[in-house]
Parts: sequence; structure tokens; C-alpha cells
Amino acid sequence: MVCEKKAIMPGDIELREFRQVGREVIDAIADYHANLALCNGLPNVTPQQVAARFLDDLSESGESAGALLADWRERVAPLLTAIGSPRHFAYVNGSGAMIGILADALAACTNPNAGAWKLGPAAAEIERQCLRWIAEFIGYPEDSGGILVSGGTMANFTALLTALRHLAPYDSTEYGLQDSARTERFLVYMADHGGHVSVTRVVDMLNLGRKSLRLVPSRPDFSMDTAELERMITEDKARGDLPLCVFAQLGSVNVGVVEPISELADVCDRHGVWLHGDGSCGLLAAGLPETRPLFKGIERADSLSFDAHKWLGVPNDCGVVLVREREQLRRAFSIAAPYLRSSLETEDVALDFLEYGPQMSRAFRALKVWMVLRFFGRQGLRELFAKNIGLARLLHDLVREHPDFEVLHEPVLYLYCFRYVPNGLAERRDEPEVQTQLDRLNQEIVDEIRRSGLAMIMTTRIRGRVAIRMSICSQRTMKEDIETTFEAIAHWGRRLYPPR
Ligand SMILES: Cc1ncc(COP(=O)(O)O)c(C=O)c1O
Repeated sequence: MVCEKKAIMPGDIELREFRQVGREVIDAIADYHANLALCNGLPNVTPQQVAARFLDDLSESGESAGALLADWRERVAPLLTAIGSPRHFAYVNGSGAMIGILADALAACTNPNAGAWKLGPAAAEIERQCLRWIAEFIGYPEDSGGILVSGGTMANFTALLTALRHLAPYDSTEYGLQDSARTERFLVYMADHGGHVSVTRVVDMLNLGRKSLRLVPSRPDFSMDTAELERMITEDKARGDLPLCVFAQLGSVNVGVVEPISELADVCDRHGVWLHGDGSCGLLAAGLPETRPLFKGIERADSLSFDAHKWLGVPNDCGVVLVREREQLRRAFSIAAPYLRSSLETEDVALDFLEYGPQMSRAFRALKVWMVLRFFGRQGLRELFAKNIGLARLLHDLVREHPDFEVLHEPVLYLYCFRYVPNGLAERRDEPEVQTQLDRLNQEIVDEIRRSGLAMIMTTRIRGRVAIRMSICSQRTMKEDIETTFEAIAHWGRRLYPPR
């Protein structure tokens, strides 16, 4: 349907101008991507300098679309970190697939409200189709329930609320956490190393209290020690508490560890505990022949989540949650109001996603997921993911072969941590002052790289010590990006701690 009226309607841009500025927007996007490989760092500005650039008053009479685009080029884009660059290795950010840009524009064009079927019938079906494709790709039941949310935190929240609704021994929909008969504490478990801080946020959001989050000791490979988990659950139950949910890390944020789902599912089954697989970073590796064995037993997880805006490269923001029993998800969020349904009881029941998650009004996120999935196809996605994993292995080889670096773990997916430990300090690395010196040295190396604009990397802490961390999940990263960045790290290491 193309309805192009000559006269513009109130609030609209005159169509000739719209077409012209629209073409300029596409040019601006193309120019931005043409230069992405050259923009690798945090813009060289202080928070005060940025704040000073955005102090102008809101205009009284409005501004033209062309003027707004010019301002975006001059003032906005240069002050944004180019997370789509091939050398962006900080946090865990997807590179933003270009097809997703077009999808976002098209989604905004029709602007359906993807909460209610009546406000976008195709949006609901496209979302359902995406969920089915994803489930099939990773080996989860295709008739599972699910929904797209804003990201990993909201996906974890959605799963934990579903677990609470399903497992509370009373009607927690009506009484929440305030049932007078309730004496037990609901408890949540995750590994003391890999567990992501978003789980703390989620426990906060449900007001379970941070003390309800039990940290289970991890094994030397950073995965949760399942024997310890079982011991803790048994003790907690004996005390009269109610173990509610285990968060398994399926690609932990520092080292990419995939925890043993089958073992965890055995423990959860024995104790009636919900098993959620937090695969924000790594779940999609379940669709890769070479990493699929790590996800053995995935179909036994009660729920799973991942961030489509991470490895899949869907532009921010988009997370996915899947719940094996669709009805459990619906029951957790279903809510009735006459103005929401507004139809005869006899009418076919359509899929209102507002019944399956925390949001009522929702963006048409599914369109960008749908287009990204279709643009790459299954094999294309596997190749992209395999490339990233291969690059992490390449980095591991470089670290292993260099005398001044310490290997901290085997690479599993695309997240890799290591440490600069030069000759002269290596022999004394266990002394407390030397450990502190190494922490500082590694942080300084990363700061210098970031300041130089060569790449964007960060540090983290591994078993308490500062380590260099690279998240290699950009679709754009190539072998030479890894080699050049590693050489620069070694170079700055030598500069900051000259061989003696
Ligand atoms: C393992 C894990 N879970 C959850 C999250 C939270 O995801 P989001 O930032 O999209 O809310 C992250 C983010 O990095 C993560 O790595």
C-alpha cells in the first residue's frame, strides 16, 4: 500500500524534502560505515567536554530535517564510540549488521505496537517465526514459548519471574512475596566466577533481596561446581528455604565458559529447581557443529536467553527469552483488561505478545531479527560465529607463544582474557606487591591502547587479578585486527615495563 498524498498531513515532512533528506541519511550511514575501520577508540573527550556541547535550548519554532541531519554528522556521530568497528573488543557488543539499520527504519515507518496482535498482525507472526527459527537453530523445542525483550537483563528477569510464578507453593500472582503463609526464602544460584551481574539486578527487580543470590564455587575451568551446587541446595532446603532457580552461564561474560547443562539439569530435576541458561553471550554457539557438544542437554533447560544485539549483530536493543513450556510464560504475564482485548469471546484468540512479557507497548524488534536471520541464513551465521571463535583461538596462540604473557584459560567461544607478565616480574608474580604492580601494568597497557585509537579493549578481573579482556564478537573483525592489536599490547607492555 502506497498512499502518497500531495498535501502533507500535520506533523509530516513534505514528501519531496523527505525523499531528499532520506537519501542524505542513507549516504550518511554509508559514509559512516565506509570509515568504521578507522574509528577504533573512545572519542578523545572528557565527560565535561561532551556535556558542554549539549547545552543549547530546545528551539521555539522547530528545525528542518536537513538541519538535524547536519547536526548528527557534526556533533552526534563523532561523539559516539564506534562499537561497530572491527577493533571494538570492549564489553560485549555486536557490530550492528547493516541490514538491521534498514529493518529499524522500516519498523519505525509502520510503527506497529507489537504488544497487541490487532496493532500489527504480521509483527506478531514474524516474532513467532523468529522464535521458532532460533529454537530450531540451537536445538530447543520449536513449540517453546518466548518473546523478544530489550536485552539480556530483561530476558533473565522474564525467566526468573516465570520460575517464581511456576514454583512458588502459593499463588504468587495474587500475593507476590507477601503471602502470610510464606516462611521460606526463595533462593537463586549462579557460579561465583561466571555469574553475570545482571542476575543481581534481576533479583533486585523481583525484590527477592540480594542475599537470595547464592554464589556457587566454580571449578578451575570457571564453570559452576555441580557437586557444590547440590550440597548448597540440599542444605538450603533442609533449613526450610525454597531453592528457586539456577542460572547456568552459557558463554560467561569473561571467559566464555559454557556450564554443563545436563549435569545442572540432573541436580535441578532432583530438587525441583528451575534451570535457566543465560546465553546472552554464547547461546548461538549451540547452532554450530563444532561447539554444539558443549550444549548437550540444552532441551532440558526450563528457559534460555540470549542477546540478539550481541553476537547476532542485531542493532541495539534486543534480547530473546525462550521458555520450554509456553503456557508457563503466558501464565506469568497474562493480565486482563477490557480495553486490551476489546472483542467478542467468540473471536479467534490471536497472539498478543503483551501476554508473554513485561512490556505492554512494544517496538517491532522482530523485524530486525527476522531480516538479520534471513540476510545471513543458517550457514552464513555459522560461518560468522566460527570465524569469531577462530580469532579467539588465534589470539590464544599469540599469547601462548609470547614469553611475556600469561595464559589464563583455554578459549571456548569468542571471549578471551590474558595477562601481561614480563620477564623480571614473572618469577615473583606471587608476591603481593608484584601482583599489584602487574594489575596496574595491565590496566595501563589497555588505557594506552584505547588512547592511541588503535583498538578499544578493556580489563576485567580473573580470580581477583586484573586481566586484559577481548570480546571478539564483531562480524567485521579480521585476522590482522587481532594480530595488530596483540602486537600493540606487547609493544605497550615493553614501553611501560622495559626489559631489564
Ligand atoms: C552473560 C550475560 N547475561 C546478561 C547480560 C545482560 O545483558 P543486557 O546488557 O543486554 O541487559 C550480559 C551482558 O553483557 C551478559 O554477558
